[in-house]
Amino acid sequence: MAFIELSDLSKEYSLGETKTVALDGIDLEINRGQLVILYGPSGAGKTTLLNMIGGLDVPNSGTVTVDEIPVSTLSAKWLTTFRKQKIGVVFQFFNLLSRLNALENIEYAIDLIGVKQSDGSTSFNGKIIREKAKEYLEKVGLKDRMNHFPAQLSGGEQQRVSIARALAKEPEILLADEPTGNLDYKIGRNVLEIMEAMTGKAQNRTVVIVTHNPAICPLGDRVVRLSDGKVAENYTQKYTPAKELYW
Ligand SMILES: Nc1ncnc2c1ncn2[C@@H]1O[C@H](COP(=O)(O)OP(=O)(O)O)[C@@H](O)[C@H]1O
Ligand SMILES: [Mg+2]
Repeated sequence: MAFIELSDLSKEYSLGETKTVALDGIDLEINRGQLVILYGPSGAGKTTLLNMIGGLDVPNSGTVTVDEIPVSTLSAKWLTTFRKQKIGVVFQFFNLLSRLNALENIEYAIDLIGVKQSDGSTSFNGKIIREKAKEYLEKVGLKDRMNHFPAQLSGGEQQRVSIARALAKEPEILLADEPTGNLDYKIGRNVLEIMEAMTGKAQNRTVVIVTHNPAICPLGDRVVRLSDGKVAENYTQKYTPAKELYW
């Protein structure tokens, strides 16, 4: 069984009389350590699909299995545990807590699950959590900004804090929804390079990046193109869209 397996997955949203099919019979397998780009236009179902993998939304039919865990049928309590232990998330608008500085934002996330020790135990010691948070801020090149509040950081810096926050939990899976959607090209590139360096085969960490930007596709080990809630194309190798699709 693949590490992440989606089988005949469908999701429909109802708003009053209006029904929208967001996902329409998705079959997809993702191996551990892969960096997958989920690519497609606005409304294709990318965010819905990402939320299904992360246990943030439930399908109408079909199944989501992650590391042999039947995510789509877990109770709310086990879903919370699943998300805490397995999943790190990065959003387009960073979603940092504005009243906490960069370091505290990361500590806050680690607080929820503690720090795995080499003997297999989990520590909730404040000092150990602080060290872990600093280690990750350093990895994204922001140790000298640890006392800055989100409003005192640039967009690119805020996104780097949010990557550090997601990865400091050392999750097996990193999910990123349009992580560069709110950044200009050069800063976005830098954010993606940091993300790439901190994930993938070397770290045995699986990554799914959602984007509508074809220029991001070449970064992936593979690209899945979504259209109207369906897998329109499943490139199992590196894939670079034709230049005329670039903007
Ligand atoms: N909570 C919701 N209620 C109603 N419709 C929704 C909801 N979330 C998404 N949709 C609809 O489902 C479709 C897919 O949305 P989404 O997964 O956000 O696409 P994408 O991320 O590719 O832009 C869209 O038509 C969207 O309007
Ligand atoms: Mg979206």
